[in-house]
Amino acid sequence: MFSARQIVAQASRRSFSASARQASKVTVLGAAGGIGQPLSLLLKLNPRVSQLALYDIRLAPGVAADIGHINTKSEVRGYEATPSALAEALKGSDIVLIPAGVPRKPGMTRDDLFNTNASIVRDLAKAAADHAPEANILIISNPVNSTVPITAEIFKSKGVYNPKRLFGVTTLDVVRASRFISQLRNTDPANENITVVGGHSGATIVPLLSQSGFNLSGDQLAEYVRRVQFGGDEVVQAKDGAGSATLSMAMAGARFAESLLKAAQGQKNVIEPTFVDSPLYKDAGCEYFASNVELGPNGVEKIHPVGKITEYEQKLLDVCLADLSKNIQKGVDWVKANP
Ligand code: NAI
Repeated sequence: MFSARQIVAQASRRSFSASARQASKVTVLGAAGGIGQPLSLLLKLNPRVSQLALYDIRLAPGVAADIGHINTKSEVRGYEATPSALAEALKGSDIVLIPAGVPRKPGMTRDDLFNTNASIVRDLAKAAADHAPEANILIISNPVNSTVPITAEIFKSKGVYNPKRLFGVTTLDVVRASRFISQLRNTDPANENITVVGGHSGATIVPLLSQSGFNLSGDQLAEYVRRVQFGGDEVVQAKDGAGSATLSMAMAGARFAESLLKAAQGQKNVIEPTFVDSPLYKDAGCEYFASNVELGPNGVEKIHPVGKITEYEQKLLDVCLADLSKNIQKGVDWVKANP
């Protein structure tokens, strides 16, 4: 028989370990940017986050001081741009979101950002590999098709690569796909769940409308696909040189982080499309590919195949694979030349 005191002690140990599991440190690298600020705000509003670490090469302590006044429970800390502060920001982190880097201006493709963002992501990936090797790493910085392979190569070179923990954030493509179809069909976008596969830029973004029971055809289908593939350009043009999608991207990044936290905290059937190390099209030269992925406590739980698609969608996929394999190789080659 247990004494009353033992029972109380056991119960409080249980509740301690339960809350320990629920405790989640989330780090944002690039937290003072156009995406970083609203993303950090949304994370502060998420009760699943217990610690929020904000790092940037400028202004992170200011953003943290501001967000830290919001009356939710999580602790917020901003970090100066020093290697030791970066290490502190990363230590013990469960999720590291990386929106650091430059955004597009009108007329630029995501690949035009490569030269600047490749080295930013490489350096932050090195720090993450050293100080948070077991965290889920969420890459937002473009070109995602190349920055994810760059991050993987850095983790491999440090012997800590876990393919189940590295994610290219393609959630915005899915958010747009459901919003745009709802505008065409006058439905509630919250109920639209359009599968989008491939990568995250132009022709590598492949919406699979047929799988959601829609049968657009002709010009309407072509225009829909074009809008999903190049939706980011609408924002770049409308902002007229002041950047690319930040607010919708923040929402998409926060949604993806929330899904990972739900899965880590034991929720089942959490499925998000994301760009991961994937067996699906390795034969076509694509080590990484975005498809629906079931998330679990260890990150990637199950990668769903693309499934049944129409002839039209197959053509889109063929174009995607040709482009995507080049984008991936570009990242791998670059990091070999610039370790
Ligand atoms: P921004 O220029 O407003 O913010 C970038 C932030 O990164 C700045 O605060 C800057 O100081 C910081 N930064 C630069 N180098 C850094 C370093 N070494 N360490 C830490 N922080 C650093 O740009 P924005 O609009 O926030 O976009 C960020 C990135 O996200 C861009 O590459 C953009 O193309 C990408 N993006 C990705 C999307 C996606 O769907 N995955 C959608 C939209 C944008």
